[in-house]
Amino acid sequence: MKIQKIKGTKDILPDETEIFLAAEKVLRETMAKYGYREMRTPIFEQTELFRKGTGETTEIVSKQMYSFTDKGGRNLSLRPEGTPSIIRAYLENNLHKKRTFQKLFYYGKMYRQESPQSGRLREFQQFGIEAIGSSSPQIDAETIILGLEILNNIGLRKVETQINSVGCEKCRPSYKESLKNFLESKLNLLCNDCKRRFKTNILRILDCKRETCKQVLKNAPTYENNLCNECKDHFSKVLDLLKKSNVSFTLNPYLVRGLDYYTKTVYEFISPILGAQDAVGGGGRYDKMVELFGGPSIPAIGFACGMERILLAVEKEGKARVQKQHFDCYIVTMDETTDVKGFLLLNELRKKGLICEKDYLNRSLKAQMKDANRLGAEFVIILGSEELRKNEVTLRRMSDSSQKRVNFSVDEIVKEFKA
Ligand code: HAM
Repeated sequence: MKIQKIKGTKDILPDETEIFLAAEKVLRETMAKYGYREMRTPIFEQTELFRKGTGETTEIVSKQMYSFTDKGGRNLSLRPEGTPSIIRAYLENNLHKKRTFQKLFYYGKMYRQESPQSGRLREFQQFGIEAIGSSSPQIDAETIILGLEILNNIGLRKVETQINSVGCEKCRPSYKESLKNFLESKLNLLCNDCKRRFKTNILRILDCKRETCKQVLKNAPTYENNLCNECKDHFSKVLDLLKKSNVSFTLNPYLVRGLDYYTKTVYEFISPILGAQDAVGGGGRYDKMVELFGGPSIPAIGFACGMERILLAVEKEGKARVQKQHFDCYIVTMDETTDVKGFLLLNELRKKGLICEKDYLNRSLKAQMKDANRLGAEFVIILGSEELRKNEVTLRRMSDSSQKRVNFSVDEIVKEFKA
C-alpha cells in the first residue's frame, strides 16, 4: 500500500517554496514598517483555550478541531487559529504590564478539519496581527490599511474590503432579539444548518451562503440600525478615516464572521477571482477576550490571512510572482582530475559569497551546460585539461556566450565576477 499525504494537506515543492519565501519576506518587511513584532506560540494548546476564546458554538470549535488526549490525559488541540494563543501568551508573559499598547504578528500553520476544496485546506498557513491595548478607531483603520498593503505587496491586485459593525455586549442582545422576532415565523424556509443556528448562534444565519436563506434575510433588521451610540460613533469614525485615507470598501450588513469574539468593527478582504472560498483575510475588534482570559479590561483588534489562498489568487490574476533564485555560476568539469579541482574551487567560491553549483553525476559537457541553463546560472566556469595545464579556467557568460580565459585563482575569478 502506497502511503500518501493526508487529505487537505499540501506538499510545498521547491519551486513553490521560493514563492512562499518571497511572500514571507514582503510580509515581514511590511509588518516592520507598521511596527508589528513577531510572536511564535505552540502549534498545540489546551482545547479549553479555543472553546473559551474562539467560541463553543462556532463551527471551528464544534466541528473542525483536531483534538486528542495525550498520555497525561490532557485534552489538547492543534490550533485552528492564532488569536486565542496570542492573547493567552500575552497574559501569561505579562506583556500588558510591559507596555500599554502592543503590536504583535504571527505566521504559521493552522489546522481545521473542513471539507477540502480549492483554497480550503486542513493544514494551511496563516499570518495575522493583533494590536492590543487601544480602542481608537484609528487602529481599526490602520489594520485594514496594513492588510491591504501586505496583500498588494505580495502581488494581489484586486481586493475588495467588506466591513460591518457587530456592536457590543450592550447593543447585541436587543439586536439578536429583533432578528429572532423577524425569523421566528420564517424558520421553515431556512436550511437545516440555519434552523440549528437559530438556537445556538442566531447571528451566523446572516452570512449563510444558501440562496434560499439569503432571500429570507432580505428584509431582516440590520446591525446598522441597532447599534448603541458608542458603537455607532466608533463605526462612523472608522469609515470616515478609511474614506479620508482613500481606502475603498463595501458596507456589508450581513458580515458577522465565523468566530464568537468580535465586537464593533469586523471586516474581510475578498478576492473576487477566487470563487467559493473568496476571503483571503478577515478580522475585527475583540474588546472582551483579554478580560475573558482573566486579564484586565484591554481592547484589541486584529486580522489573519491565508497564505495559500493569497498565492492562489495571485496566480489566477496571472501575475508573474517571484524571480527565481539568482545563480552566479556553474562549474563544468571534464574528467576525474578536473572534477576534484572543480569541487574544491566550488567550496572556495561559496566561501567568497558566490552562489554556485557543479555536476555530481559525471555527466557530459552538453548535459552540464543544460543543467547550468536550467539553474539560470549567469556564468559557467569551464575546467578542462587544457585550461588546467595552463593554470587557467574559461569563464563563459551565458547571456551572450562570450568567454575569456582567467587565471586559476579564486581571487582572480572573484575579481572577474565583480567586474
Ligand atoms: P478566519 O476568518 O477564520 O479568521 O481566517 C482568516 C483567513 O485564514 C481566511 O480569510 C482564509 O484566508 C484563511 N483560512 C481560514 N480557513 C482556511 C482553510 N481551511 N484553508 C485555507 N485558508 C483558510 C481568523 O482566523 C481570526 N483569528 C482572524 C483575527 C485575528 N481576528 C482578530 N484577530
